[in-house]
Amino acid sequence: MCGIIGYVGKRQASPILLEGLRRLEYRGYDSAGVAVIGADTLVTRKRKGKIEEGLGTLLGQSPVAGHCGIGHTRWATHGPPSDENSHPHLDRASRVAVVHNGVIENYDRIKERLVAAGHHFHSATDTEVLAHLIGEHLARLTSVPEGTHPLAAAVANALREVIGTYGIAVVAVDYPGTIVGARRGSPLLIGVGEGENYLASDAAAVVAHTRQVVYLNDYDVVTLTADDFAVTNLGTETAKVQITRLEFDAEAAERGPYPHFMLKEIFEQPQTVRNALRGRVDLEEATAKFGGLNMTTAELRAVDRVVIAACGTSWHAALVGEYLLEEFAHLPCEVEYASEFRYRNAPLDKHTLLLVITQSGETADTLAGLREAKRRGHKALAICNVVGSTIAREADGGIYLHAGPEIGVASTKAFTSQVTALTLLALLMGRIRMLSHPRGNQLLRALEAIPDQIQRILDQNERIRQIALKYAAAEDFFFIGRQYNFPVALEGALKLKEISYIHAEGYPAAEMKHGPIAMIDERTPTVVLAPNDALYDKTQSNLQEIKARKGPIIVIATEGNTRIAEAADDILYVPATLDPLYPLLNVIPLQLLAYHIAVARGCDVDKPRNLAKSVTVE
Ligand code: M6R
Repeated sequence: MCGIIGYVGKRQASPILLEGLRRLEYRGYDSAGVAVIGADTLVTRKRKGKIEEGLGTLLGQSPVAGHCGIGHTRWATHGPPSDENSHPHLDRASRVAVVHNGVIENYDRIKERLVAAGHHFHSATDTEVLAHLIGEHLARLTSVPEGTHPLAAAVANALREVIGTYGIAVVAVDYPGTIVGARRGSPLLIGVGEGENYLASDAAAVVAHTRQVVYLNDYDVVTLTADDFAVTNLGTETAKVQITRLEFDAEAAERGPYPHFMLKEIFEQPQTVRNALRGRVDLEEATAKFGGLNMTTAELRAVDRVVIAACGTSWHAALVGEYLLEEFAHLPCEVEYASEFRYRNAPLDKHTLLLVITQSGETADTLAGLREAKRRGHKALAICNVVGSTIAREADGGIYLHAGPEIGVASTKAFTSQVTALTLLALLMGRIRMLSHPRGNQLLRALEAIPDQIQRILDQNERIRQIALKYAAAEDFFFIGRQYNFPVALEGALKLKEISYIHAEGYPAAEMKHGPIAMIDERTPTVVLAPNDALYDKTQSNLQEIKARKGPIIVIATEGNTRIAEAADDILYVPATLDPLYPLLNVIPLQLLAYHIAVARGCDVDKPRNLAKSVTVE
């Protein structure tokens, strides 16, 4: 949420900042701005709206020169989107500029004090308060510890007064050629270049310039110049600095020939599922193997209960995981919204395995859930996509998805990779318990066929688009499925509502008659997930109940099932697989349906209203 970029080097900063902000725009697009230090000047440009029309146009009309600067793309928390509330914000003397991701919880108390001391504020943001506070500390600085930059000292002193979360970048006109950054709860990394350095909230902003990065830890304060960087830690820990090589290149973060990142990511799924399987399939032992669980077989066998915490699409993947773990390993499993889990006193005994699932590895609620468990001395594993993210680093072990950067705000490829990873984990947990070799083998062979089967569904893209056009004007939608397909119904509804703004709900198919069926009429389509699985006949009855109330029906069925076509207004086929693997196939037409409906309605698919990728605030 919100994107930060900083550049210091020999090149002009503003085009680099603008380009970095374009790459970060998926993290927030309410407004954007830059502050650049020129010859004895600090110039800011900021504007409400998406980068191209807002800041891009502004910089075209009035460029700024200078070799050191910071930029920000905003997802509004305090104060609505407006030019005034855009970042960067300046201190009282307009000599310090700050961009910020996070929430300063005690900003009102600090603001009261500063107002009493004669400060005037121009925005409704917590960030402007922080800028004034840093300016105050800089003005009253009399001495600094040896080796500490004065701006870093002022930032550190200000942050000691602050309660809340932050990833910040700060420049000051009195210190041209220096950027100070700090983080607590919001991601920040250094991009290490040659004769130039970068600061960013996300590797996507710097990967075109360097693949060498340093992930900052909470309470780290970094002082960045063109040739060097120094990290200290405000807490009790000494700063740990480790240069990591990014596992993806600039091309992976580009849209390529696709009109939207979401479509690109949907089409990447044959490959991303292969990536999630690579090196983890043990056909001989009919099991799965992982390099990073950091748990012995004995420890895994001692687990008698699994709790999974996640949000959004990752929570839907977790629900599939619950069915998988129960079926393959007979393990009781509870799936929690991370936002609820973090504040509950959920019992976690020593035989309970806590698993968090997150694409970004930065979701505030999921991170807080992980930390709360760790605070109690409980170990936790993570299924995560972003290498080096906070959750990936703080978990005791886990599984990387290797899906490459997911830029589309609507999560797609992460879901199929998460379900793949969960299937492998459930298989492993099953094989060290009671699951037979033939059953394990059967599952692995079916899993290995999934990437090609996904491709066969993607080949129906044009047909799915035609169906989407037919239903694009609907104002309400239902998605129903049973067992493994219930979480897929939830996911299909989430995809549709977040990018097309159509009201959509997902239900277990049999629940419709307990209330929601009252909503069904000839204008309310229902997507019925009806693969040839153990509950096919039951799902078929639920379908008939909706049809009897004149609800239009789109069926997702298994290839060869021509019988069900009679009951459907439209039908899409997926290849046959094992019951537990249908989510990996059935979700694909739902992603494409949502995508094409949103495009037909003229919605901005990659930047849906009110949303941002990676929710780093509570
Ligand atoms: O990065 P995470 O997987 O932790 O993100 C969780 C949710 O914020 C995310 O899945 C969100 O719901 C997406 N917009 C869904 O498409």
